[in-house]
Amino acid sequence: MTTVSEIFQTMAYGPAPESDKQAREWLAKHGGEGGVGGGGEFGLFVGGSWVKPASGEWFDVINPATTQRIARVPQAGKADVDAAVAAARAAFPGWSGLPGHARARYLYALAREVQRHARLLAVLESMDNGKSIRETRDLDIPLVARHFYHHAGWAQLRESEFAGATPVGVVGQIIPWNFPLLMVAWKVAPALAAGNTVVLKPAEFTPLTALAFAEIVAEAGLPPGVLNVITGDGRTGALLVDQADVDKIAFTGSTEVGRVIRKATAGSGKKLSLELGGKSPFIVFDDADLDSVVEGVVDAIWFNQGQVCCAGSRLLVHEGVAERLVAKLRARMEKLRVGPPLDKAIDMGAIVAPVQLERIRGLVSKGVEEGATMWQPSWACPTEGYFYPPTLFTDVSPAATIAQVEIFGPVLVAMSFRTPKEAVELANNTPYGLAASVWTENINLALDVAPKIKAGVVWINCTNVFDAASGFGGYRESGFGREGGREGMWEYLKLQWDEGRGTGDGSKRSVAKGASRRTRPSSPVPLPPIDRTYKMFIGGKQARPDAPYPRAIVAPDGRRLAEVGEGNRKDVRNAVEAARAAEGWAHTTGHTRGQILYYIAENLATRTDEFTARIDAMTGCGLERARAEVDAAVSRLFTYASWADKYDGQVHPTTIRGVTLAMNEPIGVVGIAAPEDLPLLGFISLVAPAVAVGNTVVAIPSEIHPLAATELYSVLETSDVPAGVMNIVTGSKDELSKVLADHLDVDAMWYFGNQVAAAEVERASAGNMKRTWAEWHARDWLDPHQGEGREFLREATQVKNIWIPYGE
Ligand code: NAI
Repeated sequence: MTTVSEIFQTMAYGPAPESDKQAREWLAKHGGEGGVGGGGEFGLFVGGSWVKPASGEWFDVINPATTQRIARVPQAGKADVDAAVAAARAAFPGWSGLPGHARARYLYALAREVQRHARLLAVLESMDNGKSIRETRDLDIPLVARHFYHHAGWAQLRESEFAGATPVGVVGQIIPWNFPLLMVAWKVAPALAAGNTVVLKPAEFTPLTALAFAEIVAEAGLPPGVLNVITGDGRTGALLVDQADVDKIAFTGSTEVGRVIRKATAGSGKKLSLELGGKSPFIVFDDADLDSVVEGVVDAIWFNQGQVCCAGSRLLVHEGVAERLVAKLRARMEKLRVGPPLDKAIDMGAIVAPVQLERIRGLVSKGVEEGATMWQPSWACPTEGYFYPPTLFTDVSPAATIAQVEIFGPVLVAMSFRTPKEAVELANNTPYGLAASVWTENINLALDVAPKIKAGVVWINCTNVFDAASGFGGYRESGFGREGGREGMWEYLKLQWDEGRGTGDGSKRSVAKGASRRTRPSSPVPLPPIDRTYKMFIGGKQARPDAPYPRAIVAPDGRRLAEVGEGNRKDVRNAVEAARAAEGWAHTTGHTRGQILYYIAENLATRTDEFTARIDAMTGCGLERARAEVDAAVSRLFTYASWADKYDGQVHPTTIRGVTLAMNEPIGVVGIAAPEDLPLLGFISLVAPAVAVGNTVVAIPSEIHPLAATELYSVLETSDVPAGVMNIVTGSKDELSKVLADHLDVDAMWYFGNQVAAAEVERASAGNMKRTWAEWHARDWLDPHQGEGREFLREATQVKNIWIPYGE
């Protein structure tokens, strides 16, 4: 008798297509007679209505599964971008002035509308992008609704939870094609919740759900101009980036374009967040449940045809189980189904466009050329449309192109490791740092490995899980800034006192005052010893500068006070090396770091008179003010000693059964160029928060008044600061800052000085996409609102979210 199991094995899939009728009707309504341009042409959504593009240009939107044209959308030009930004600007006072509760109601309405139109949106997304209806219906669209619900909550709570903060202004948002509507939600929801207005540019391959969303926004009754949607390719994106009246750019896409945008916005005062590419490791230890692992791999690399920035594209397997896992994977791949995206029984749909298909083919050929073993299932993909089969590479060397370059397709490269240490090394052997997933039944091992991986998200025994309550974003060349959660909201807010920011116009900010207080007469009290020659402070020791020509430091009345080293590239290199070698600082306890900061404060306090006299002699600010500065510096050290064991993370209530730990991690080696004003306090105000949370620093003190910092050498030497945690290089602040910003082993750069050099720092940072914090407007460092607090700690950390499901 035939068994059920035998029948099951021989059953074939019949077609199970989702109807595209409603989506076709919607397209016809917009592109046909009722359409703006007629003949299948959409308009731009500006100021609450559909308008024809001034550019007069349109381009085709293609269904990648059929290669048929399904719509035409405008290629927005300069006048169109300007009009959209003007509409957003006009809407800003009204929208930002609404009570949080009113914005919450609008966001709630958007979530409801998305749910109401879920079917249309899911089908449209599949037609436009080529991804399977199973994914758009069950993942993309539900996550979109969830994002708006979650952010309706942040709108409601903004005044209380983000007290002292205001929206940034007009935000330009540029998104990619891999999750077209989900990226709309990730960008638009926090921006609107915070009170900003938006100009959104969807990707040229996939503009349709963003246009449908514009219509939903109108239906939900949002005021005109709050959200504007302009279509076009990279040229339109570049115009939006350059538009002077835009206050912030939020971008998701390739690291290459992220770099271009970083350079283009340098020195403009525009706030920036970048979510870029990845080459994320998927680590399997020998005690992992291999059947779960196989399903995990399917989700990691064959979800969305592998066109996922956080795809688990590098399979790192413990040597002992590698062969077994590869065999299981091949068997599973043989059963995957590639075909028409609207078929409900399909696992993988089409690749978004011919250019992407070519890129995948090219990289796969390269893999074969370089000697790796390529395996694909025996079945063939449909020939009509842009399809590509799931692909597995074994015998891959860690340096191979396919192990290093983001393929952004259904291609998995497998490598093996012997020890957890080797697994971590392999995992971090990439310039990226977006995500990772770790598979083991040993929770100790998982929680040991997770913090060691340089990535913004670590999934334990799961992968590609997202939720609005948990921030998402990268380390290193995967960009900076987070989307989702509390930290995602901060990307769209600025502190109230910081009035100049957000104008997009640097000229509206005052320039740091530098030595402006030098005009006051200096005190007649005896000065500290004159004509000392200070070295650098590197690796815990006073180090002779590389160049033999010191720089003279003079008092406001022209008297020579001392000489300091003229730091150069070599000194910076040594300092960075020392800072890197001191990375163990990150693994000391908050308690220990706090104790050391208290000790510095104590040693500084005992020398208050000396520092007071020194500051007065240098700046001519008067003894009273100098003493106030020293007292404030001592207090600031106390502040960060206090914070060292208190800047804790969170446990997010996400939609998994388990916990999502949001951990504040140090960034690594931070370059700091201190302000000219208040030379001791400015210096301490930046260095203390950076080291409190576990970074090591290379600091450049005030160029005109470096002696407060050089005098600190001996304080640091007697305060148990481990060698290399704080390094000080004196000399030309702007030149040294540029060297630090260029340095590929520096992870973040803070610059406080003039606008021109700030721009240089931001531009140079694009090399390794290091995070920057560059300011040229004056802060009152004596005011605790401006000079200390959570803002500094946020800059000094990056959030890693570790997802830990539990239960049987
Ligand atoms: P892309 O980075 O060129 O495009 C992303 C968005 O940026 C699109 O809206 C595009 O129009 C816009 N854009 C392009 N040039 C611009 C410029 N100069 N200024 C402002 N905006 C600009 O990505 P593309 O070409 O679609 O894909 C290329 C590769 O990038 C992929 O193969 C993949 O490796 C990676 N990628 C990564 C994504 C991620 O989520 N991390 C998403 C999309 C692509």
